[in-house]
This record gives sequence, structure tokens and C-alpha cells, in this order.
Amino acid sequence: MAVKETLKMGHPLLSQVAQAVTDFNTPELSALVQDMFDTMAALDGAGLAAPQIGVSRRVVIFGVEANPRYPEVEEVPMTVLINPEIEVLEQRQEEGWEGCLSLPGLRGLVPRYVHIRYSGYDPAGKRFAREASGFHARVVQHEVDHLDGILYPQRIRDLRNFGFESELFPEATLENTSPAARE
Ligand code: NI
Repeated sequence: MAVKETLKMGHPLLSQVAQAVTDFNTPELSALVQDMFDTMAALDGAGLAAPQIGVSRRVVIFGVEANPRYPEVEEVPMTVLINPEIEVLEQRQEEGWEGCLSLPGLRGLVPRYVHIRYSGYDPAGKRFAREASGFHARVVQHEVDHLDGILYPQRIRDLRNFGFESELFPEATLENTSPAARE
């Protein structure tokens, strides 16, 4: 398996609606998922969608492990989510800073629903559903947007809240960069 090149904003594939997975439990699907995990790990990301490595399929992965050094960072279970659906459980949205491996170095303030239920399939074709709130809900909405050809800048309400991380947060170091910047 391999670390793949990540497509950057402007590549037409990132604007396409990805196709549903129809065959589960196949070597092709497990190879795709493994490549995605390898790529996300190499880039220290919190999530990745298949179109970002050039595969226009409805597959996303995400997860953030708890780190005792950064207790403020919310843990998100390591998850493979295929053909996802999101149900909004509360109409309220909250703004939070996001980044994306397809827009390296940039960050934007993005509104997301605070409380959702998401459902979909694992690579074996088993259906599952989960409730999520806060950062977990944000990561899922960000990744699922990729499958509909939407990148986070399209969600920003005020483009003054969009820019280079080094300019927006000059005091930040790589060490204390929040995982929200690495979706
Ligand atoms: Ni992204």
C-alpha cells in the first residue's frame, strides 16, 4: 500500500459528485482504504476523502486519537464511512476553524451543524449509525462535503475569515496546531 499524492483545490475531480460504492469486501476497496489511511497518517491529517487521492468514490476516513498532552483536543473514533448519509439533529450551527489537505497552509472559519447522526457502511458492507457533536460532527460534515464536490471555502460566510495559517495564527507552532486545521 502507499502514500498517495493529494489533489489540490482547483483539480476538477474535487468538484465532482463521487459515485456510490456498490461492491463491498473487495480487494480494491480494502486497497483504497489502506492507501487513504497511509496518506492521512503521512500528512498527519484528521480525515480524508477518496476524491482527494484521485478516486471518485463515496468513501471517507477520519479519526483523532486522544493525546494527554493536548487534553482540549476531542477524540474522534478512527472510522471508515462508505456511502454516508447525514441527518441534522439540531438546526444550530457553530463556526470553527478548518483546514484541508487539499488546501495546504490555509484555514477558514466554517459554520457546521453541532449535532448530527451519520450512517453508512463499513468496508465489509455492514451498515452502522452514530450520533456525533462538536468537533466529531464537524469532521464528518467536512469529509462528506468532499463527496459532493464541496470544499470548505464554499461554506465560509465572511471571506475575511479565510487565509494562510501563518498569518492568521502567527503565534501557533506546529506542535499546538489543532487537528481542525488538518482535515
Ligand atoms: Ni478536506
